[in-house]
Amino acid sequence: MTRGAGPWRELEVAARAVRSRAYAPYSGYRVGAALRASSGRIFAACNVENASFGLCICAERSAVAAAVAAGEHAFTHLVVMSDGAPPASPCGMCRQTLAEFSTSLTIRITNVLGEGDEVSLRELLPLAFDGQKLKRTNSARKRRT
Ligand code: THU
Repeated sequence: MTRGAGPWRELEVAARAVRSRAYAPYSGYRVGAALRASSGRIFAACNVENASFGLCICAERSAVAAAVAAGEHAFTHLVVMSDGAPPASPCGMCRQTLAEFSTSLTIRITNVLGEGDEVSLRELLPLAFDGQKLKRTNSARKRRT
């Protein structure tokens, strides 16, 4: 376990602050995510739960949505802060959502004590499904008709 420093400090501060605003009355599990775009801008978001459980949205996907709404499509660093040791890593749905934009993303998975580790998105989601494959499929279909 290493403590956050360098490129992580500002993101950790943002993730910790936004985690305190998590809406998690059902699980009680608060998560904060802070995403740095290639432009340097930081987008922070928390998990938002719902009485209809399937509608819960994770902190990581909320952060991606906020960044995309602001016109950002490329990201370099992500901090995910939850509680517990070892800290929890992003769920599968969030990994795929992140992979849509930046396969070279570096992620710091951390907890409220500041313990954590760095991992690449490629390590978390090897062989991710990517849109390029979808485009090839569509053009192949067009050629056949
Ligand atoms: N959660 C996240 O925010 N990120 C993850 O990567 C995993 C889970 C949230 C969703 C839900 O509000 C709570 O944690 C328990 O699953």
